[in-house]
Amino acid sequence: MEINVNVNGEATSADVEPRRLLVHYLREDVGLTGTNIGCDTSSCGACTVHLDGESVKSCTVLAVQADGSGVVTIEGLAPNETDLHPMQEAFRQNHGLQCGYCTPGMVMAAVSLLDENPKPTEREVREGLEGNLCRCTGYHNIVKAVLAASGQPVES
Ligand code: FES
Ligand code: FES
Repeated sequence: MEINVNVNGEATSADVEPRRLLVHYLREDVGLTGTNIGCDTSSCGACTVHLDGESVKSCTVLAVQADGSGVVTIEGLAPNETDLHPMQEAFRQNHGLQCGYCTPGMVMAAVSLLDENPKPTEREVREGLEGNLCRCTGYHNIVKAVLAASGQPVES
């Protein structure tokens, strides 16, 4: 099937099999490999992107379901070539990443979380990110980063 998807503000299109997953479309057809694949069970969240403004696990969405929609990946988050998105900056400043494998998905999920709840409590951040797993178990600093990005004071 021919699909047309706006990815990070740019029109993309391809002829895809109906079973092709959105994450494979993004990584292999569009060439944006920042969106990672960490499992094959819809459980890790490494593949999280925004689909029409909603956070989704792109391994659970068919590429054809994104036809006519807009997708934002981690590559499309920063405002320009040199500056980071405030959430990326907060992760950097608060050491919210170790190996970095979960980070693109964590950041995308965290941005959605603050869109829905701009001043979350620590517990709300933990609950909001429970669909995203960090195999380095760096949750403490990830939560700190999200709280910092929300403009709330964080303990060192
Ligand atoms: S790769 Fe999509 S949830 Fe793990
Ligand atoms: S930083 Fe390594 S998986 Fe999260």
